[in-house]
Amino acid sequence: MKIGLIQSEPVHLDTRASCERLAPQICACAQQGAELLVLPELANSGYLFPDQASAEIVAESSNGSGEYLGWLVQQCKEHQLALVSGYPEISGGKLFNSAAFVTPDGVKGNYRKLHLFDMEKNWFEPGNVGVPLFEWKGAKFAALVCFDWAFPEAWRMAALAGADFVAHCSNLVLPWAQTGVKGHALCNRIGVFTANRVGTESCGEAQLTFTGGSQALSPTADVLASGPNDQAWEAVIEFELELARNKQVTKQNDLFEDRRRDMYSL
Ligand code: ACM
Repeated sequence: MKIGLIQSEPVHLDTRASCERLAPQICACAQQGAELLVLPELANSGYLFPDQASAEIVAESSNGSGEYLGWLVQQCKEHQLALVSGYPEISGGKLFNSAAFVTPDGVKGNYRKLHLFDMEKNWFEPGNVGVPLFEWKGAKFAALVCFDWAFPEAWRMAALAGADFVAHCSNLVLPWAQTGVKGHALCNRIGVFTANRVGTESCGEAQLTFTGGSQALSPTADVLASGPNDQAWEAVIEFELELARNKQVTKQNDLFEDRRRDMYSL
């Protein structure tokens, strides 16, 4: 499967302007034959919200009726591909830091970030839908969001459910994720597509610089593509699904069969 990795710089609190920046990147991936794209966390809104009310203005329902997800469905139709993108979700008056699985036929799946990072706890609710599995053109995959990288349980859940890879939508500010996810790739024999963002955002006292370095990993943690730290970038990677379906490490070791489920649980 050809997977496009998009590293973007959203326009803070401006969905329309963020879409204008994303459009040529989506187009460039489509021209290189991408079948599935991975976009960053909160790709339409940026990351820092002055308060809950400003987050609500850019938040959308997961049903695809809002400006951003509606636009993504149109992009999928135009380019005949699917994608996973982070966005701020509103549901029953509650905000979630979510990732939608979008196809030409609409939004077909939704993940809500399980592990909220730092100030996110001021405006988002922690996710409550587990780690759902999505399917597209014979590939099975899960979405995780940014700081989820630090929790191996979520990656194991995805792998045990049958994920060939994880679409890791990110707004990274700490320097460890790109190293940490190599362990998740290796220990689960799955691909990892970390789509990070770049740029600096200020909001009140807070200022954050996002670190780029988007990265595609094979199931043996080989770096298949790696982005710069300070500018928008995209790449299309040929990913061998079969590699992720073989959990055999030696003649006598299978990463899933050898788990000691009598000694520990997930
Ligand atoms: C993060 O979870 N956005 C650092």
